[in-house]
Amino acid sequence: MVIQKICCLGAGYVGGPTCSVIALKCPNIKVTVCDKSVERINQWNSDKLPIYEPGLDEVVEQCRGKNLFFSTNIAKSIQEADLIFISVNTPTKTFGNGKGRAADLKYIESAARMIADLATSNKIVVEKSTVPVKAAEIIMKILRANTKPGVEYQILSNPEFLAEGTAIVDLVEAERVLIGGEDTPEGQRAVQELCWVYEHWIPAKNILTTNTWSSELSKLAANAFLAQRISSINSLSAVCEATGADVSEVARAVGRDSRIGPKFLEASIGFGGSCFQKDILNLIYLCECLNLPEVAAYWQQVVSLNDYQKTRFTRKVIESLFNTVSDKKIAVLGFSFKKNTGDTRESPAIYVSNTLLDEGAKLHIYDPKVEHDQIYYELTHPYATSEPEKVRKNIEIHDTAYSAVTGAHAIVLCTEWDEFKELDFKKIYEVMMKPAYIFDGRKILDHEALQNIGFHVQTIGKRLARSGSIRAQGSQTMP
Ligand code: NAI
Repeated sequence: MVIQKICCLGAGYVGGPTCSVIALKCPNIKVTVCDKSVERINQWNSDKLPIYEPGLDEVVEQCRGKNLFFSTNIAKSIQEADLIFISVNTPTKTFGNGKGRAADLKYIESAARMIADLATSNKIVVEKSTVPVKAAEIIMKILRANTKPGVEYQILSNPEFLAEGTAIVDLVEAERVLIGGEDTPEGQRAVQELCWVYEHWIPAKNILTTNTWSSELSKLAANAFLAQRISSINSLSAVCEATGADVSEVARAVGRDSRIGPKFLEASIGFGGSCFQKDILNLIYLCECLNLPEVAAYWQQVVSLNDYQKTRFTRKVIESLFNTVSDKKIAVLGFSFKKNTGDTRESPAIYVSNTLLDEGAKLHIYDPKVEHDQIYYELTHPYATSEPEKVRKNIEIHDTAYSAVTGAHAIVLCTEWDEFKELDFKKIYEVMMKPAYIFDGRKILDHEALQNIGFHVQTIGKRLARSGSIRAQGSQTMP
C-alpha cells in the first residue's frame, strides 16, 4: 500500500502541529485532522489557531485547503484514510482503580471503537498518544474483535517527542522518530509504510524501529529522564541556598562533563506541562502493577521533589512578605507552564497562585499568550477551589506587565518569557509599593541590577546579598 490519505484523531497540541508538518513535507498525501470538538476544529479553520506555537501559523497557512484539512467529519476521514494517527488525550485517572497515577485510556478506547465501527478497508492504526506499555494490545483487541470481512489492521506505536514552544522545529528537524511494530511480515510492512512517510524529510538514520512495547516504554522513559534531571538540579538548588553555592555555577560545571551534558539543568520553581508528571505517574503505576516497588519509589521521588520545589518557593514568597500576603497585591508574571506556549496544564504558576489566593492575596496576573478565560478557569474550577466566586474577586488579569505591577507589593515571576527580561524595572520600581519585592522563579532577571534599583530580590538556588527576607538579613535560605 502506498499511503495517500492520512487521518488524525485529536486536533490538540500534538495532532495539529504534527499533521501540519506532515502535510507540509508530503504534498502528495492528503492529511485530515479530526476532533470531536466542533469549537476546536472551527479554530483550526480560522485565523486564530487554538494553540500558540512559533512557526505553526505559517505552516498551516501554506497547507490548509490544499492537502491539510481540519474536520469534524470523523466517519468520512476514517473511511478514506490508509493510515490513522490516534492523537487523543491520555490524562491521569481522577477516579477509581489507579486514581491519580494510571493513565485514563477511555479516549484511546473510544477512538479505537470508532475506527472499528467505521472502517471499510485496511488500515494502519498508529498510536501517537503517550500510553502505558501494552496499550497497543487494547487497540488491537478492540479492532480485531470487531473486524469486518476484507478489513485488516496493523497497529504501530509512534510516540511523539516534540516539546511545546519548539514543536515545529522539533518536528522538522527531529533528532529521532521512533516506530514500533509487530514482529510479523505484515507488521514490518506497516512499519516500513510509516517510515516512508517520515523519510520525506527525516534522514533514515534518525528513524528508529523497535518492537511495539519498547517504543511505548521509550516515550515514558524519555520523559521520566528529562523530569529527573530537573528534579536533580532543583534538589541541589536547596543545597545551594543553604550553603552559599550558586546553582547556575554548579549546573555549568556539572554539565561540562560530556557524559552529563548541559541541557535540562536549569533550576526553577519546578516542571509543569501536560506530560512530565502524567507520564512519570504512569510509569510508577506500571511498576507497581509489575510488582517492582523499588523502581516505583525511585521515580515517585522525582514527582515529590517537584512538589517540594513549588511549595518551597511559595513559602519563601509568603515568609519574605512578613509572613502574610493577606490583602496584598501580588503581580504574577507568566502563567503558562513555560515560555512560547499558551498551555497552562500543570503550570507551576497555578500552584503558586492557588496558595497565595488561599492566604488572602489579591493577584494581578499577566501572561503574553494565555487567554484570560483560561487563567480564570484554572483558578476557579471545582478541583481548584470550593469558593469560585470569592477567588474570582481576588484575581485581575492584565494585558501588560506594567499594568499588573502597578501598586503591587511584590512580583512573582513564574514563566521565563523573554519579554520579562526587557521590562523597564526602574519604571516598575517607581509604581510599586515599598519595600518592593521580586521573586524570580526562573532565574532570568539581572538580580544585581534589580538590587541596585532598590528591589528586594529572591531567586532559586542562590543566596542574594540584601534579599530582604524578614528572617533574612543574616541568613536568607529558603525554609
Ligand atoms: P490535547 O488535549 O491538546 O488534544 C487531544 C484532542 O483529542 C482534544 O482536542 C480532544 O477533543 C480530542 N479527542 C479526544 N477523543 C477523541 C476522539 N475519540 N475523536 C476525535 N478527537 C478526540 O492533547 P495533546 O497535548 O495533543 O496530547 C495528545 C497525546 O500526545 C497525549 O497522550 C500526550 O501525552 C501526548 N503528547 C503530548 C505532548 C505535548 O507536548 N502536549 C508531547 C508528546 C506527546
